[in-house]
Amino acid sequence: MNTSTTIRFGRTPTRYDAVSRLLHWLSLMLLIAQFGLGWLMPDADSMKTPAGLAAWHVGVGTSLLAVLTARLVWAVVRPSPGAAEQSGVLRFLATAVHVSLYAALLFVPVLGWINAGGRGWVVRLAGLWDMPQLAMPDSLGASIGEWHSASATILLILIGLHVFAVFVHQIGFKDGLLRRML
Ligand code: HEM
Ligand code: HEM
Repeated sequence: MNTSTTIRFGRTPTRYDAVSRLLHWLSLMLLIAQFGLGWLMPDADSMKTPAGLAAWHVGVGTSLLAVLTARLVWAVVRPSPGAAEQSGVLRFLATAVHVSLYAALLFVPVLGWINAGGRGWVVRLAGLWDMPQLAMPDSLGASIGEWHSASATILLILIGLHVFAVFVHQIGFKDGLLRRML
């Protein structure tokens, strides 16, 4: 049976809905920009206040938090996409990686936000709206920049595992899993 469109078995769609797909690919685009900005921006210790690429890093990073919030709310209310057809072990692994990705999408920017507060930086959502200061200047928050960097590396590894799994499905299993998100 052709599964490339929104064929439904009963009330369970076999493909992610348009809002889920939009938020998924928007997150990917923002993350590509965010890692680029993180690696290219000047040393954070050299800045009393975020400017240039660092200001963009804070603006895009806080936007990612907003997109994550929308994804989580939507995941609760959306029509269930139903589990992809695969063995119980693979289903468990897929769920574990998806949950870890969501967790990392929360922890990475929150650690950056705490570190920015510790540096005395003003944090604005998407560069526009002031957000609360999560740490006082020169508190513990000031010294957790490395935690933020390390958590970003873990996020990158999780993304690598996730994309590898999609390739295995596409090329190895030839089950067209990618169509569920297109
Ligand atoms: C998912 C979102 C985010 C990702 C993937 C990310 C990624 C990164 C990366 C790759 C670096 C460079 C690490 C290095 O080369 O050592 C970095 C540094 C940094 N980021 Fe983020 N970031 C995110 C969100 C944020 C947010 C929301 C803020 C602030 C509100 C922030 C503040 C910082 C700061 C202050 C540094 C410098 C840390 C240091 O050198 O001690 N980041 N980030
Ligand atoms: C080229 C990059 C990517 C491709 C090809 C891709 C592909 C896919 C596909 C096909 C699915 C559906 C899997 C299924 O039905 O079991 C999916 C789900 C998911 N993807 Fe990606 N993805 C990519 C990047 C990312 C990134 C960067 C993130 C976040 C950091 C991410 C997070 C997720 C999550 C959390 C789910 C589960 C969605 C849910 O059930 O709520 N993906 N992805």
